[in-house]
Amino acid sequence: MKFNELSYIHMKKCLNDPIFNIISQVGELEKTPVFVIGGFVRDALLKRSSKDIDIVALGSGIEIAKKVAKKIGPKVKVSVFKNFGTAMLRHGDYEIEFVGARKESYRQSSRKPIIENGTLEDDQNRRDFTINALAISLNKENYGELIDPFNGVEDIQKKIIRTPLDPDTTFSDDPLRMFRAVRFSSQLHFTIEEKTFTSISNNKDRVKILSGERIIDELNKILLSSKPSIGLKILEKTGLVAEFFPEFQKLKGVETKDGKMHKDNFYHTLEVVDNVRSKSDNLWLLWAALLHDIAKPKTKRYSKEVGWTFHGHEFAGAKMIPSIFKRLKLPLNEKMKYVEKLVLLHLRPIVLSQDIVTDSAVRRLLFDAGDEVDDLMLLCEADITSKNEYTVQKHLSNFKIVREKLIEIEGKDALRNFQPPISGELIIETFGIKPSKTVGDIKNAIKEAILEGEIHNDHKEAYDFMLKKGRELGLNPKR
Ligand code: CTP
Repeated sequence: MKFNELSYIHMKKCLNDPIFNIISQVGELEKTPVFVIGGFVRDALLKRSSKDIDIVALGSGIEIAKKVAKKIGPKVKVSVFKNFGTAMLRHGDYEIEFVGARKESYRQSSRKPIIENGTLEDDQNRRDFTINALAISLNKENYGELIDPFNGVEDIQKKIIRTPLDPDTTFSDDPLRMFRAVRFSSQLHFTIEEKTFTSISNNKDRVKILSGERIIDELNKILLSSKPSIGLKILEKTGLVAEFFPEFQKLKGVETKDGKMHKDNFYHTLEVVDNVRSKSDNLWLLWAALLHDIAKPKTKRYSKEVGWTFHGHEFAGAKMIPSIFKRLKLPLNEKMKYVEKLVLLHLRPIVLSQDIVTDSAVRRLLFDAGDEVDDLMLLCEADITSKNEYTVQKHLSNFKIVREKLIEIEGKDALRNFQPPISGELIIETFGIKPSKTVGDIKNAIKEAILEGEIHNDHKEAYDFMLKKGRELGLNPKR
């Protein structure tokens, strides 16, 4: 069977839910033609499941929504957004949005009230991409018919992202669509058609008028797509990255001196992000992957003896995180702290595994990484992108040892989220001393003894160690 037939069968199946009949009946009663439009139709043809249904009415979308809600049952609530001319209700798993057909663009952030009503064609004209401008009639005379004025089905078949109108017009209506094009390309593995691509490059500086939150929403979707590098590469090629995230752009490029070349940190980072994505859907771990080498351009040095180095890029990188998060409108809470921590520690497991993996080094890693140790190990494994199979295998087998030791040591000493077994108060009380530097020194000595494996993370052993340490410092217990 051809793509079309299978897709149409699936699309029809998606209309089986009784809700579509209810909307159809209300439309007929109100003498208002109604259509399913946008992402739901696209996804139905692509056999992706979608829980968001957009209904466009040739009349008042709000009125249709209210009548549909009444018909479903007395408890159904309609949320009305008067300024946008839209109304939303939930039914089962579905979130259904109703809107009147309009002549002007679908700018989700627009504060201007929608005034001009339009035909279905007007409405389709002002949508972002041909694949998002498809509509299905819910009207008696042609129920289930696909209305596709811009060959959106053909574009789905050919895996192409293209604007219905001249791309300059579509993108000037809402510049966020440039990011949406990249996001759909990354999510669906579609190619952005040439004219559309060129128009993004030409209009890239319009990004400046967008809110950070809207951009980040799209960027997060790119990071969560199955192969984020697809979208990230396009963001770079179109020039969008340089506009909104210059630090990331700076990772690109290689320099050669005395015939010595360093790797391109942009493409390396993309590989790391893809590697993480193949194992995890933790958005913040993906952000850590994206940012792990962010300070490499800043810390890059060259010397004849050792060649290229990026000493301290993990410290400098961790320091850059708060300002990047603030500017990009990412959350400034524990998520940011998590990313900071992973960037700071991202070299630790690899440094550790280059040597003999000692218990105390693993204990220190566990102590510093706490609950994040598993994510850190995943990031570190993803960071090995060498083309040399031998190097990769060597690192991976050393990581295996690190992982085994982590489990073994965790079994013996509970070091994740380490709580000192002896408190400062107990030290003060035992020796009858005042709060002072000595108290801190004793506490630290106990921690070090645990990490070095001299004593276990155990109250009795730590207490005895405290007495010993106190004696060394000339202190005796009160009694
Ligand atoms: N739309 C648009 N321009 C925008 C945003 C949305 O033209 N900047 C139109 C598109 O027709 C789109 C529909 O509004 O299909 C619904 O938008 P949205 O829910 O944001 O996207 P979907 O296409 O449904 O895709 P997804 O749910 O994956 O975001």
